[in-house]
Amino acid sequence: MKLGIVGAGMVGSSAAFACVMRGAASRIVLVDIDEARARAEAEDIAHAVPFAASVQVDAGDYADLAGAGVVILACGVSQKPGETRLALLSRNAEVFRAVVGEVMRHAPEAILVIASNPVDIMAQVTQALSGLPPGRVIGSGTILDTARFRWLLGRHLGIAPRSVHAYVLGEHGDSEVLAWSAARAGSVSLESFAAQMRTPLTDAARARIDEGVRRAAYTIIAGKGATWYGIGAGLARIVAAIAGDEQAVLSLSTVGNVQDVGEVACSLPRVLAREGVSATLMPDLAASEQEALAASARLLKEGFDSLSL
Ligand code: LAC
Repeated sequence: MKLGIVGAGMVGSSAAFACVMRGAASRIVLVDIDEARARAEAEDIAHAVPFAASVQVDAGDYADLAGAGVVILACGVSQKPGETRLALLSRNAEVFRAVVGEVMRHAPEAILVIASNPVDIMAQVTQALSGLPPGRVIGSGTILDTARFRWLLGRHLGIAPRSVHAYVLGEHGDSEVLAWSAARAGSVSLESFAAQMRTPLTDAARARIDEGVRRAAYTIIAGKGATWYGIGAGLARIVAAIAGDEQAVLSLSTVGNVQDVGEVACSLPRVLAREGVSATLMPDLAASEQEALAASARLLKEGFDSLSL
């Protein structure tokens, strides 16, 4: 499958590299307003191909996106230290007004995967501008937050993160909801698993894990200026699920009615395959988690409604 990536910054380039390392695409085209950067990233990533899968990696312009099965939008500005993702909205909406039209002109059949923040609202902006069905406009959403949640739970419980089944829902941002009540490890509840492993999930442990997930980006940005490896790997996971027609359940952000808030893009567990998102699942949540999810969805809908597209 051919993959297009608009934005050859750290996130787009890391996604391209991760796709090469896992063989998630057969061809990758990097498009960026800084053509020299796109060419340099493409050549650097191509030098990883002999160590990985056989993937053709090039830089190009929008016309070179023709025939892509997936186009990742990783363009626009990113958070500065201490800046929230929502603060990027007006600037990135302006960028998307130009980019989405170009992508649709040259790759009208592609599934669009959005990485630019605030990713949930940018996914809804893209769906509105493109007119594509909601299932073909996919925000990376909380796929990264869910990975952070599983990683921290795995460290606490002493097990592999892949053996932890837990989701972060709602906004990829400060209002996100860690769905503790729906979390499982080794097919038993977290509480039972933690008790059996003698690693109780005390209030302090839960608070530490919540803080570790919710503040991860701020902490990393303070230390190195931006995040890119985690989101790059998450984007490659999304591409692989589409290319492999996997029917994989991932926490992704697509437009739909959430908790009767109205049409809004936020993250829930969704079934992803070649044609995009085909189904959405609502986990069994505690009342407090349901209320937090509704609040998160309302926040995102207010953000989208504040735009004049
Ligand atoms: C983060 C960016 C991708 O959470 O929003 O690292």
